[in-house]
Amino acid sequence: MNLSADIQRFRHDVVVIGAGGAGLRAAIECAEKGLNTGLVCKSLLGKAHTVMAEGGCAAALGNTDPRDNWKVHFRDTMRGGKFLNQWKMAELHARHAPDEVRLLEKWGAVFDRTKEGLIGQRNFGGHRYPRLAHVADRTGLEMIRTLQDHAIHQDIQVHMECTALRILKDGDKVSGVLAYWRETGRFILFECKAVILATGGGGKAWRITSNSWEYTGDGFDLAYEAGAELVNMEFTQFHPTGMVWPPSVRGILVTEGVRGDGGVLLNSEGERFMFRYIPERFAAETADTEEEAQLWLEGDKEARRPPELLTRDVVARAITKEVAEGRGSPHGGVFLDIASRRPAEVIKKKLPSMYHQFKELAEVDITQEAMEVGPTLHYFMGGIRVDSETQMTRVPGLFACGECSGGMHGANRLGGNSLSDLLVFGMLSGKSAAKYLEGLEGDLKVNPKTIDSAIREATASLNREDGPNPYIVHEELQALLDEGVNIVRDKEGLEAALSGIDALKPQAESAKAHGSSQYNPGWHEAISLGPLFLTAEAVARAALVREESRGAHTRTDFPGESEEWQEVHVVVSKAEDGSMDLRKEAAADAPDELAKIARSTLEELEGGQG
Ligand code: FUM
Repeated sequence: MNLSADIQRFRHDVVVIGAGGAGLRAAIECAEKGLNTGLVCKSLLGKAHTVMAEGGCAAALGNTDPRDNWKVHFRDTMRGGKFLNQWKMAELHARHAPDEVRLLEKWGAVFDRTKEGLIGQRNFGGHRYPRLAHVADRTGLEMIRTLQDHAIHQDIQVHMECTALRILKDGDKVSGVLAYWRETGRFILFECKAVILATGGGGKAWRITSNSWEYTGDGFDLAYEAGAELVNMEFTQFHPTGMVWPPSVRGILVTEGVRGDGGVLLNSEGERFMFRYIPERFAAETADTEEEAQLWLEGDKEARRPPELLTRDVVARAITKEVAEGRGSPHGGVFLDIASRRPAEVIKKKLPSMYHQFKELAEVDITQEAMEVGPTLHYFMGGIRVDSETQMTRVPGLFACGECSGGMHGANRLGGNSLSDLLVFGMLSGKSAAKYLEGLEGDLKVNPKTIDSAIREATASLNREDGPNPYIVHEELQALLDEGVNIVRDKEGLEAALSGIDALKPQAESAKAHGSSQYNPGWHEAISLGPLFLTAEAVARAALVREESRGAHTRTDFPGESEEWQEVHVVVSKAEDGSMDLRKEAAADAPDELAKIARSTLEELEGGQG
């Protein structure tokens, strides 16, 4: 029987999958370029992980410190990413971020202000100057609100509660997307000439995560199955501060803005332990003077950039070590104290969401008491491999932007760079898709047989008699990753996680969803197991291949960065026989001018807005 014959159809020039900040920005750009644009959201419009970037959007506006400029931002980003970033992407990001923030303001974003009435900027880890344009601790939310408001006044057709299942191709080119309505379970065919993936990450493969239910690695899976590559999947960011108590809220983000606004980390002995974890290299590279570096290393409590604002990889590892060595808080985290550092009214004004979050969810008044916090899986630095300038994958017509694309952040992302990344690369991918369509000739077709087989695959869990419960399989996968693919890894743990994944995969493939396809969360869960397993396997295998510690990837059996790995990317793709192929690939040479900027002193970069 031909299942594709009478399914619902839409025709667009371009379909953007994912309606967080990156997807919205990409869709706006496509619509502005006159493309017939469809925007597919798995959830409701505006319900996205973008809101979890609370503390701010990094852009070298130079409002709070006029010495800031795109070159210093670029240099900080490369250093934070341990020089594994795609150079060109990091350059484009730093150059375009200020204009994108100003554009957002023009579209109605209400940022906090400096005394002079300019967009205010706060400190964040790894950023040399206060650089984060912010709206209290609700920056991502304000950005989504603004983008959403702007988008709905453009000619964009929004398809909500709709999950993409398969990218369709005519020969090697993108020609459509098969999806289904989550509410009715009915299938939909989008016929289109380009697809922009903006699906975010796959944090739900871990138990302790800041991600919500949507983040099951769908974009990684869609791209991989379509023939695109994934890059540097081993670099998963554990944000140092998630809630740890009560269990129902474990993993929910506690913004870095708390530390940016003066909060300090304490262990159970009341010690500001981060002073013991300042990497010598960091102090030398980042301090203004040798004296300042020395002061830091000796534990100067008044150092201008407190060690709580070291990069996230360093802080998350330090917290993990404190807890492992028995100096943790009662519920397995450490203390984050802003109560004794700032007046209550300042805390409530600058961190209103944190105030309410702790009051309502943990019965803690953060103006009076310290919070308990610990690392939480927050972000993927790795992801879909794209061309640095066009954001196109190796599949013609398939683009990716935002968290689901890889390369921009190297081995570790600086806080706040996600929001500027999604604006800049959302915009650029929209422009590139328009350009791609200009040069495209002839009609594109979708293959009904591919659609039929994708529908059969999607409904298999409904149609079999019996099988494992998909929720339990998901939980078992999370336990494997929490155990073996966490902040600190080694060969033994990674191999154990991989054999666990191998053993569990047949259960995922034979999971049973009871009931029909209508209003059926169990069925959605069964469908999401495919992307979750792909994500888990890609991360674990890439982590096993990279035999060094760099940025967010820490191998206890290979401590420290290795020169051999300095310029190597781990690339994941689907082999002809259907297996997962991993290979090491030498990074492209750094363009001379960018390499020079990355190595310049701050004095050399001052006044470098040009
Ligand atoms: O801590 C935060 O507010 C998160 C920001 C980010 O991930 O960029």
